[in-house]
Amino acid sequence: MIVTSKAILEPSLQAFKQGKPYAIGAYNVNNMEQMQGIMTAAQETKSPVIVQVSRGALKYAQDLYLANIIKAGAELNPEIPLAIHLDHGNSFETVKRAINLGFTSVMIDGSLMEDSKTPSTFEYNVKVTAEVVKYAHDLGVSVEGELGTLGGIEDGVGSGQTHLTDPDQAVEFVERTGVDALAISIGTSHGAYKFKSEPKLAFDIIEKIRQLLPDTYLVSHGSSSVPQELLDIVNKYGGSMATAQGVPISALQKAIACGMNKINVDTDIRLAATGAIRKFFVDEPKAFDPREYNTVARAAIAAEVKKRMEAFGTAGQSDKVPNWGLAEMKKQYNS
Ligand code: G3H
Ligand code: 13P
Ligand code: ZN
Repeated sequence: MIVTSKAILEPSLQAFKQGKPYAIGAYNVNNMEQMQGIMTAAQETKSPVIVQVSRGALKYAQDLYLANIIKAGAELNPEIPLAIHLDHGNSFETVKRAINLGFTSVMIDGSLMEDSKTPSTFEYNVKVTAEVVKYAHDLGVSVEGELGTLGGIEDGVGSGQTHLTDPDQAVEFVERTGVDALAISIGTSHGAYKFKSEPKLAFDIIEKIRQLLPDTYLVSHGSSSVPQELLDIVNKYGGSMATAQGVPISALQKAIACGMNKINVDTDIRLAATGAIRKFFVDEPKAFDPREYNTVARAAIAAEVKKRMEAFGTAGQSDKVPNWGLAEMKKQYNS
């Protein structure tokens, strides 16, 4: 069942208000095996899911291939509520293209300029985000904005400077743009190398923003855990990622208890696949059939995503999601 991300995030917000917080994982997809692994995990845990696609993914897979792979995943798993989300949209044009492809949710990341590197001004962010909200809501599509900047630089996403989100500015931003969801900067960063010493998150900022914006879905980017057991596999079978470090699952659980609703995970999916493929080739030096190594990668992705669905409390929540597709949301946004 393809729905908007609002349909998937609203029950998480209500659950927080009732003192039973859980969050939705938003998992990045670049190819068929990643989509299949994510859907296996969702199916086995009865979890709603947001699958998200970056501009890099759209370019790599050619956007039409990727959109149709995701739609196939939805069709084959009709009981799993699924939102198709644009991750880090950088311009009105990218957003329009995603919506034309059938995405039900878009992110416009106006915290950075169109190059996705240079930090923008608050006024620029408000302007581009409000434009996207108007366009998307008219069509029933949910919108995520971002305020504050994350630390890491990975594949062209990120300025390399951290600016934690200012809670009062977050209120003004949501009022002036009308976004459904807000990505906030609390000390996480993209990629596999997030912290040089002890991981630290600004839980007080989540609490403050949750209190000031009780009806906005809060999003944590750069939330891969970079588990040591995955690094051990990568490093044992020829990789070299000794200093990689992520956000511990326990810290994400604390963030969820403070009111976080959407947790973005990409790097962990990459690590799971890479470790499995590296091991496969060392164990099977004569192998050369891509179906064989992609099979082990797909299984490793499913196992890793399943762990997050269980840890974030998403497991068992699939039947709580209302059937708010684009047509229903078009009515709600425009009434
Ligand atoms: O936020 C960044 C995501 O991990 C996407 O990364 O641009 O390399 O596809 P990517
Ligand atoms: P990670 O690099 O921590 O997986 O973050 C992914 C992300 O935020 C996608 O938007
Ligand atoms: Zn991100």
